[in-house]
Amino acid sequence: MGSTSNISLLNSVAMGDKSADLILSNCSLVNVYTNEIQEKIEIAIKNDRIAYVGPDASHAKGSSTKIINVQNKFVSPSFADPHIHIDHFLSPSEFIKQSLLHGVTSLFPDSIDIVSTTGSRGFREFVKLTTKLPMRFFHVIPGGLPVDPKFSFSKKMSLSEIKSTIKLDDVIGLGEVFSWTKVTKRDSATMKSLSFMLDNGCVINGHTAGIGEKKLNAYISSGILSCHEPINFQEVLDRLRLGMWVMIREGSIRRDLKEILPLVLSNGIFTNRLMFCSDGLDPIDITKYGHIDYCVNEAIKLGLEPIEAICIASRNCFDYYNMGKDLGGIAPGRLADILIFNKLEKIKPSKVFVGGKLVVSDGKLVFNVRRDTLPKPLTKTVRTRRLSEKDFLVPYKKKTANVNLITLKTEIITEKSNHDLNVIRGNVAPSRDNDIWKVAAFDRIFGTKKHSIAFLKNFNADVGAFASTWNFHENNLLVIGMNEKDMAVASNHLIKSNGGMTVVKNGKVLASMPLQMAGIISTDSFEQVRKNYSKINSTLYDRGCKFKKPHLVPIFLPFLALPEIRILNTGLVDVKKRQYIPSINS
Ligand SMILES: [Fe+2]
Repeated sequence: MGSTSNISLLNSVAMGDKSADLILSNCSLVNVYTNEIQEKIEIAIKNDRIAYVGPDASHAKGSSTKIINVQNKFVSPSFADPHIHIDHFLSPSEFIKQSLLHGVTSLFPDSIDIVSTTGSRGFREFVKLTTKLPMRFFHVIPGGLPVDPKFSFSKKMSLSEIKSTIKLDDVIGLGEVFSWTKVTKRDSATMKSLSFMLDNGCVINGHTAGIGEKKLNAYISSGILSCHEPINFQEVLDRLRLGMWVMIREGSIRRDLKEILPLVLSNGIFTNRLMFCSDGLDPIDITKYGHIDYCVNEAIKLGLEPIEAICIASRNCFDYYNMGKDLGGIAPGRLADILIFNKLEKIKPSKVFVGGKLVVSDGKLVFNVRRDTLPKPLTKTVRTRRLSEKDFLVPYKKKTANVNLITLKTEIITEKSNHDLNVIRGNVAPSRDNDIWKVAAFDRIFGTKKHSIAFLKNFNADVGAFASTWNFHENNLLVIGMNEKDMAVASNHLIKSNGGMTVVKNGKVLASMPLQMAGIISTDSFEQVRKNYSKINSTLYDRGCKFKKPHLVPIFLPFLALPEIRILNTGLVDVKKRQYIPSINS
């Protein structure tokens, strides 16, 4: 975060004994400490920090001081996203270009899929990729792996790896601890890592979906003080009452602001322990909605005072992460992360500063970022051997087979059912008439032969196969297919290109989104990724898929934290019963 050791320098500038690098004059200052707009304020900045805030900074003006007359526009602290997964779709350097335009200058990423695919070595390299970017990154070590040790087969971090990783400058704590049962049952490894974090002054983020009252108390008393999972006012209130901080989620997975905020306001609940987070944004949503600026503007529309909305988007996040002395407001000693905008009711930053450096001007980026070169641990992560048609056969001796079906209710939620399928030349065949597909999951992280094949209902697209190397948080090579030939073509396409998503019909690739970094992130430009992402979804949707965002289907198919039936390379899992079930009932 930069050093606070040079307090003498800031002190000298404030006193007029040394000159500032930059003075912002004629500011209408949004004061997040007093709930005021202060007119005609001048802000003097030295290096990356604010030295002076007051009516007249002329004493800090030297021959080389740059003056920007803000012309009575609003000046506020810039925004933070306190919980985001940036290890999806876009590389960090491409993502920040979008995020900065929306006034966000600090991200707290939880890169769970980077760890799941590349372990602690890859995580370190990923953190390195973010260090030289004009955005503050405060990484947390993913606290959700393995999702379920009984079934998961992905990489994770050991306690000793966690202990050495936390020493990195940009790593500040532990990410969402998914498994509250591990906490309430006081699982020894979990309690050790929680205690280690607390003993070292690190923040631990929570995930308390579906937890009961007594267990919530136990979870909080274990030092986990935030949650971004509440989806209604009561859940927010339950957590605030027990001293938790709540991140209201507005992102590509869910949007909860409209449900929660009006009741927070009508019940007169304090907002000083609320934050806005995205939990991840896809390449369409970040342009369609925006980022944390969207939350601020929507909150204002829902009746929140603009200054209070800005507090939630800035000051509260840094207070939660114990960084309030450095960030979250405009005051002496704070880092100069600043927004300038015209209207308080609808914030659209015209200028954005990070550490006193202008990164956005007139709503446009004014910096260049060098293209990422991929570090070794993040490449060649699709280690599955080349596959053939035969690898997707399901041999069976009888004429029909009664199979356990994964029935898609939405892109995300599945239901368990069963169905009789014909056996053709000794292979249990998918059925176009009944919209029943094969679905295969192969290990691609370790390069073992571990795989499983089951059956899926309700995908309904007129394609041969759809495959992905990215899924929560197993990251198998996952292939949905109506015929084995196209399933092999789709798989081999992804094996060759080091990962991604692809749609195949009659041996031809109809759409493809390369995800060359760990098989989950693209190294392409934002525009290219956006195009590829749209093409994957439109190809499937236009060909009859029942869901608007079909890319989510393979992403969620192995996700053990949701009902009801999931597939991983280790087998087909009945989530409720927590047990493997066979693909075919004998
Ligand atoms: Fe999350």
